[in-house]
Amino acid sequence: MVELTIDGKRVEAEEGRTILEVARQIGVEIPTLCWSEGISPYGACRLCMVEVEEGGRRRLVASCIYQVKDGLVVETATERVQRVRRMVMEMLLARCPRSEAVRKMARELGVEATRLEERPPEEDEGCILCGLCVRACREVVGLNAIGFAFRGSKRMVAPPFDEPPTLCIGCGTCAYVCPTGCIPFEDEGDKRIIWNREFEMQKCRVCGTYFAPVAQLVYISQKTGLPLDYLEVCPDCRK
Ligand code: FES
Repeated sequence: MVELTIDGKRVEAEEGRTILEVARQIGVEIPTLCWSEGISPYGACRLCMVEVEEGGRRRLVASCIYQVKDGLVVETATERVQRVRRMVMEMLLARCPRSEAVRKMARELGVEATRLEERPPEEDEGCILCGLCVRACREVVGLNAIGFAFRGSKRMVAPPFDEPPTLCIGCGTCAYVCPTGCIPFEDEGDKRIIWNREFEMQKCRVCGTYFAPVAQLVYISQKTGLPLDYLEVCPDCRK
């Protein structure tokens, strides 16, 4: 265990935990966009910046990746922290000016507009390049159906060769975790369309509702050994 201070409160925490995790445990809110429970943190959006003091030095760190230490003094809402978060928000707003999620977070942090040049609408896909979708696919689902492509201003998340991804099972985990909701995902009766690929949906053998892509159920069956006919019943009817 280590002992640290967060916003003046003394806290005991397990070694290896991050400042963000420990702060949330004691009810201190820190804004995040690229963090999600159960997915490895990456420190991409920089919204979770906090000020730390150790060994007489003060500096800004991303709380989602910075591990707690004995004697660490953390301040989560100093003027410097808020200024940096607002600056980050202006950058995100310039990148995704039409994203409702980004605009909402900006308003919450007191940013109404960006002073930076906004991306033209045709280039604004709403993606902040946080990579949460890529990590979720790899770590939660166990696949690598999508990844980062290109560099610099052309950097984007896409399936290999920007073609409908052959590895994808249509589970939609990437879309569920996306903090800006920018991964198009459509369920239409017996079809689901995601990443420009169409998936056949399974009809529940009891209630008849379409509930999951067949490819996802086959994948789960292969991974877990559960019989496919058990998986062809929707979670509600399995209870
Ligand atoms: S939540 Fe920490 S950098 Fe995005």
